[in-house]
Amino acid sequence: MEILHYGKDVAELVKGWKALDLAVALVPTMGALHDGHMRLVEKALEEADRVVVSIFLNPVQFNRGEDLDKYPRTPDEDLRKLEKAGVHCAFVPGIREIYPPGFSTKVTVSGLTEGLCGKYRPGHFDGVTTVCAILFGIVSPHVAVFGMKDAQQLAVVRRMVRDLRMGIGIVPCETVREPDGLAMSSRNAYLDREERAQAPVIYKALLAAREAVKAGVGDADAVKKLVEEKISTADLAGIQYVEVVDPDTMERLETIESTALLAVAVYFGDTRLIDNMILDASGD
Ligand code: PAJ
Repeated sequence: MEILHYGKDVAELVKGWKALDLAVALVPTMGALHDGHMRLVEKALEEADRVVVSIFLNPVQFNRGEDLDKYPRTPDEDLRKLEKAGVHCAFVPGIREIYPPGFSTKVTVSGLTEGLCGKYRPGHFDGVTTVCAILFGIVSPHVAVFGMKDAQQLAVVRRMVRDLRMGIGIVPCETVREPDGLAMSSRNAYLDREERAQAPVIYKALLAAREAVKAGVGDADAVKKLVEEKISTADLAGIQYVEVVDPDTMERLETIESTALLAVAVYFGDTRLIDNMILDASGD
């Protein structure tokens, strides 16, 4: 596996692959790699002949007071995992490689960044789309793989690629969970024992909602109420939002007619966890 720190070296490597007609996939990450990230890597290896994984803890997508300083960093272990998985290139740029002096561009997707996480993390998605545009520009992959765990991020990146005609296929990957249902996240490491024990209530609530919709409940408020009640049975849980939205536009839905995205953000102590589930009124 090549470990590269400079964009020009990655671009050169990828150019060589493309000259051989090889398909290239990119998996953007912020490191502290867990099995969720590694499932994206597996998917990328299935989708393409060559896989680049970027590891860059992107400061501009964190708000002041968020967890940038304490965000877990496991660089050696990350590289070991990528090597073992058969990744061809790890791109590990420094901050100045991504944001050189004089950098002055921001990529903003409007509309679908305004609700859900966007409402509570102002500027967050601008940081995500800007860094993804830079990474796409450097690597110019055929496809890039993103997790459905961050459903709003996936929709926002898809929209950016479509609107800016970036010509990159965005491949979604299902959420990888711990055996008790908690969605894997680098932030799970912040949970203390009691919080960790209660956190699977989120998934249980999402499952209950899915069952209710299958059984014919079509009113979004009724589904939200059910989820809120279920999550509130955990005394350490503090709900930030529970929303039912269109999976592509992120617009709020009043009724669940075909597919809908149920998305939640819940605090356990200082730790903010997000999760979601696709609800399908047709029962599939
Ligand atoms: P990060 O949180 O490191 O996540 C990198 C990718 O892994 C994202 O596409 C995310 O959705 C996916 N992922 C995380 N946990 C997952 C899980 N349990 N199951 C499946 N996929 C999971 O998301 C970011 O980094 C950043 O915003 C980034 C896109 C890299 C831009 O900085």
